Amino acid sequence: MICSVVGARPNFMKMAPVVIEMRRRGMPNMLVHTGQHYDAAMSAVFFDELGMPQPDVFLGVGSGSHADQTARIMVAFEQVCLDRPPELVIVAGDVNSTLACALTAAKLGIPVAHVEAGLRSFDRSMPEEINRVLTDHIADILLTSEPSGAVNLRQEGIAGEKIHFVGNCMIDSLRSHLARAQERKPWVHLGLEPGCYGLVTVHRPSMVDDPAKLEQLRGALCEVARSLPLVFPVHPRTRKRMEALDRRWDPVKLVDPLGYLEFLGLMADARLVLTDSGGIQEETTALGIPCATLRDNTERPVTVELGTNRIAGTTREGIVSAALALLASGGPPPGIPELWDGRAAQRVIDVIARWQDLSNRSEQ
Ligand code: UD1
Repeated sequence: MICSVVGARPNFMKMAPVVIEMRRRGMPNMLVHTGQHYDAAMSAVFFDELGMPQPDVFLGVGSGSHADQTARIMVAFEQVCLDRPPELVIVAGDVNSTLACALTAAKLGIPVAHVEAGLRSFDRSMPEEINRVLTDHIADILLTSEPSGAVNLRQEGIAGEKIHFVGNCMIDSLRSHLARAQERKPWVHLGLEPGCYGLVTVHRPSMVDDPAKLEQLRGALCEVARSLPLVFPVHPRTRKRMEALDRRWDPVKLVDPLGYLEFLGLMADARLVLTDSGGIQEETTALGIPCATLRDNTERPVTVELGTNRIAGTTREGIVSAALALLASGGPPPGIPELWDGRAAQRVIDVIARWQDLSNRSEQ
């Protein structure tokens, strides 16, 4: 039996096509949700909209410091593995649930497969970078989404036979649900016209936990919003920091976090996206929507080399000038990275099925 793990919002769209493909092929499997994200808008809505089966086990760990959250996931997940030992654990992405469950499995001698392996920002101040590096070094099957993944892994001494370039599972979800998302016309109830608004998301601690940076962001968004209406679905972490900052954000339109279809529909008809999210850099590349990344680096270089992504930095001037340049130019002509074709999860399961055959043969 194969155990797949999800925990936080960006895991759901990566793991949904993998779980659905396993169930389509009749492979015995179990889905564990750590509960790192627990609000309906951050979790349940994604299960419903992505057609993902309900979790077989919900660990309910909730929020906490990094050590506290990671440790509680490990203790709870260890019990799951002891009660129903899986032959393989699949984790995705770079959140605390990813590392916690990979580490738990590895210590119990259970092989680990990592979906979205090998991405590197080379910025160890990002908690996600620590999670990526450590998960990759204890995983047995490394499933990469873009060419930089294998290059980074080989440079870190990981054996080539463990690395499999499968493409981007999150883009499988995007391709499956895009038409339905656009049919919803989510811009209507926000009073917007398609192609005539910008979409903003910001939630990284490095941006929102520092009041000076948050203030730079506020200034930049208010300035850009004078040229283009901006809608900003606010992550709970960001909402708390905004309340502490206690400044006005209008004319930027702040809304609560959105579900998958609503957000995808808004993104697909946006003129421009401003974000510090990793996944959204990839989704805008797949959609051909100009994207300014509000960070100093990216672990997803293919989105800059081939796609629509531009690194804008985190200063007010940097954000405003990147946004206005993208508005003026309409952005570079988009290219779709290799294997972002909607069939990545099939390749993931092909790799896992071959691995199962080999391990069954070596046991005989
Ligand atoms: C986590 C991931 C980050 C990912 C992001 C997407 C880690 C280290 N970080 O960051 O990589 O990009 O998810 O959203 O795993 N909260 C709620 N409701 C929820 C979940 C969280 O209100 O359902 C609030 C809590 O105050 C919590 C805070 O958000 O303390 C942060 O949540 P946490 O899971 O620690 O990290 P994120 O910032 O969401």
